[in-house]
Amino acid sequence: AIWELAKALGFGRLTRSTPEEHDRIIAYTSQLAHVVSCAYVGSPSAPDFQGFSAGSFKDMTRVARLNEDMWTELFLAGPGSSKRPSTGMAEEGSAMETVTVAASRVYPVHIGGGLLDRCGELTAAATAAGRCLVVSDDTVAPLYGARVLASLEAAGLQASLYTFPAGEQSKNLTTYGKLLEHMAREKLTRSDCVAALGGGVTGDMAGFAAATYQRGIDYIQMPTTFLAASDSSVGGKTAVDLPAGKNLVGAFWPPRLVLCDCDTFQTLPEDTFADGVAETLKHGLIADAAFFDGLMKQPIREHLPAVVRRNVEIKAAVVAEDEYESGKRKLLNFGHTLAHTIEQHYC
Ligand code: GLY
Repeated sequence: AIWELAKALGFGRLTRSTPEEHDRIIAYTSQLAHVVSCAYVGSPSAPDFQGFSAGSFKDMTRVARLNEDMWTELFLAGPGSSKRPSTGMAEEGSAMETVTVAASRVYPVHIGGGLLDRCGELTAAATAAGRCLVVSDDTVAPLYGARVLASLEAAGLQASLYTFPAGEQSKNLTTYGKLLEHMAREKLTRSDCVAALGGGVTGDMAGFAAATYQRGIDYIQMPTTFLAASDSSVGGKTAVDLPAGKNLVGAFWPPRLVLCDCDTFQTLPEDTFADGVAETLKHGLIADAAFFDGLMKQPIREHLPAVVRRNVEIKAAVVAEDEYESGKRKLLNFGHTLAHTIEQHYC
């Protein structure tokens, strides 16, 4: 029917595009609008529209930082360039790969090595926040806290660290309340942001604090476990536990950015690493048989960025279709529901 309609509207030459070609076209056309806006800043009639032009200019510089390759190809190499246009996603084998989650909020998930040292520039590109409160537990903070603060400050953000005791037992209303009190004492405003640096407990709790403080402020997920990178950091579920059960109080609150530094997963204790392996197998079982077969044949540790990327792609696709878990997203709970029941009974 679309074909017939397009012809009736006078489109003489029609072609079907692959998903990759579609992404390239979108990347190209969305950048053109920014270029026109930027050119307009210098035009004589611009003063009437300074706000709009300035906003687009900020978007343009943000996109340029997020995807330097595409930027260079489109605007420096020029239309005659023989280089293949970028898909808007980082390419396989590059230092940083990016998967975009397109749900009620569109945000990038960056995956690669050494990303904690780049968290400042990447955070500045994803949010306009002036200050960043880094929330972490007392195991992770000594390992990565100083590096994260240094990178944020180098990018011009005012950064500080808040630490709570590590472990699932901290994921409760008391720790959450203390964190909110701290945010209020620090006079955080809606123009500031929170960064969750750690595993799933940290991400869930800092995310829930961000979702509820002043009715919602920006937050960044910086998962330091293979499990959190592959599941809980993506999709915007935030929560704390009640004595009656896990995750009984929470909110859907999408982050502005997820930063998966795969170097941090290599130093995890074996059983903590295995949590991520289980999550990976789950994704293979529910969504991608070929991925599952591949996992059986190759050591996961040697392909961590590619494995995390596939996990994130599978999760992002489900979240884009059913963000609020009215149907398909329940698939992601495959194994979780039973495990939560066993955990609640025995722990
Ligand atoms: N961990 C399952 C989900 O995010 O839906």
